[in-house]
Amino acid sequence: MEHNINKVKMLEFPQHGDERGHLVIVEGNKDIPFEIKRAFYIYGSDADVVRGQHANRESEFVLINVAGKSKVRVKDGEGNEAIFCLNRPHTGIYLPTMVWKDMYDFSSDSVLLVLASTHYTPNEYIRDYDDFVKEIKGATG
Ligand code: TYD
Repeated sequence: MEHNINKVKMLEFPQHGDERGHLVIVEGNKDIPFEIKRAFYIYGSDADVVRGQHANRESEFVLINVAGKSKVRVKDGEGNEAIFCLNRPHTGIYLPTMVWKDMYDFSSDSVLLVLASTHYTPNEYIRDYDDFVKEIKGATG
């Protein structure tokens, strides 16, 4: 079975800039592959903080550093990982369900906008890495 980590991809949003400045539009099911049910943003995280550290059974996300920089590491639970730098307000990363993610290396001016396909439901989060590996093995193996 193809792992969802292969669905992770960087997204480029068109910039509608003019002499007044930049405007970036993100529409659900158009610019990103899901309907947006939730938005939240993370700022004020120190450079040595690691956030995320979970996988989601149901939620898909798009992460956009609307200011500053951060990095996202995704893992498939089978030993593969990939690292992406988020450092442009018109670039996002699409994260499908069932990938482990860590956000880290936040710049002091980082504002990380997250768009989600679901409302918040704590029990669709997998917060223990070994549990994630078990669920991946169960699905693929
Ligand atoms: P957490 O999932 O640890 O944030 P991150 O993965 O971005 O580091 O969430 C921190 C707290 O906020 C936790 O108590 C759950 C709560 N929370 C909500 O209530 N709703 C949400 O949509 C999110 C993302 C978190």
